[in-house]
Amino acid sequence: MTRGTQLEIRPHALIHNVQRACHLAGAASVFAMVKANAYGHGLHLVADVLREHVDGYGVAVIEEAVALRELGIDAPIMLLEGCFDAGEWRLAEQLQLDVVVHSALQLSTLDAANISGPLSVWLKVDTGMHRIGVPEADVENVVRSLQENQCVHVAGLMTHFACADMADDNTSESQLKKIRTLAEKFSLPYSAANSAALFQYPESSGARVRPGIMLYGSSPVAGKSAEQLMLHVTQRLTAAVIAINDVPAGESVGYGATWTAQRDSKIGVVAIGYGDGYPRHAANGAPVAINGQRANTVGRVSMDMITIDLTNIRNAQVGDVVELWGDNVTVDEVAQFCGTISYELFCQITTRPHRVIADGQA
Ligand SMILES: Cc1ncc(COP(=O)(O)O)c(C=O)c1O
Repeated sequence: MTRGTQLEIRPHALIHNVQRACHLAGAASVFAMVKANAYGHGLHLVADVLREHVDGYGVAVIEEAVALRELGIDAPIMLLEGCFDAGEWRLAEQLQLDVVVHSALQLSTLDAANISGPLSVWLKVDTGMHRIGVPEADVENVVRSLQENQCVHVAGLMTHFACADMADDNTSESQLKKIRTLAEKFSLPYSAANSAALFQYPESSGARVRPGIMLYGSSPVAGKSAEQLMLHVTQRLTAAVIAINDVPAGESVGYGATWTAQRDSKIGVVAIGYGDGYPRHAANGAPVAINGQRANTVGRVSMDMITIDLTNIRNAQVGDVVELWGDNVTVDEVAQFCGTISYELFCQITTRPHRVIADGQA
């Protein structure tokens, strides 16, 4: 018996989901967000699988762009946080990246870089999220100075929605209006839509859309499941039951004795823990599935193991496969239980689970 802790990645589901994004994007070009190791799915695998289906990729940091070029990806790559110093500008030129400019500081490092260009830049505008972006009032000056700079070519304006995932959102329309007005004023294309906006504000697509989480089969829209949005599961995290213990009523389980059996219970020990990336917040009640039935975690998540209540599960045995998320338990359910989002769960899977690539199924 092997430990059996496994992350299965499904290329066909990735393709289904990107096709969904392309459909929603209409005429806009589709840039797949593959930052943070393609939301934990594996940069190389995802970039390769999506190669035929997207117009380009989005990464946060230049090392991710280097990795894509080393893979032989020659499609455009958008560098979302832009360059941090002159050396990065020179590397961006070498790699022919679409560099986001979001601050005056980046313009001073551009001057110091002494590149020959023209390198494609997208000016990021703060339309209301107040994270990164040039304030609206400064856009005119920055666009003019970029347009006078022979080293760069201003490819467009971009912005990022703060609340497009929310049901009672009234900021996205205001953000959209601002970016459209500016794009019109300077006769530039714009890029705004993330996954949530593709579903909620398809009119926001502009020239280039930047879907991330929807490609990975998780719902970007509050109150709607991935299934309702016709997205397919791209990863299934599983582990084996390695022990089953009878725990009498009144006895506790795990570190800190945070769960006490209210009845005589059968407790399964499963070979996955926070050392594999399973969230430690998933204590006492997080959903799991075993043999097609749903069960729950009990007690604290340890580094290498979790414990689940098998009292009502028929025929559970050592060696059975437990699904932490995938087809029977969605990653969104687990995230909600843990007070987080699927993005974080995906990103925190460590290198320890054995990665397998599913063939065929979507
Ligand atoms: C600038 C930018 N664009 C697009 C995305 C993709 O967002 P999502 O994964 O919600 O589709 C992100 C993700 O954080 C982002 O930072």
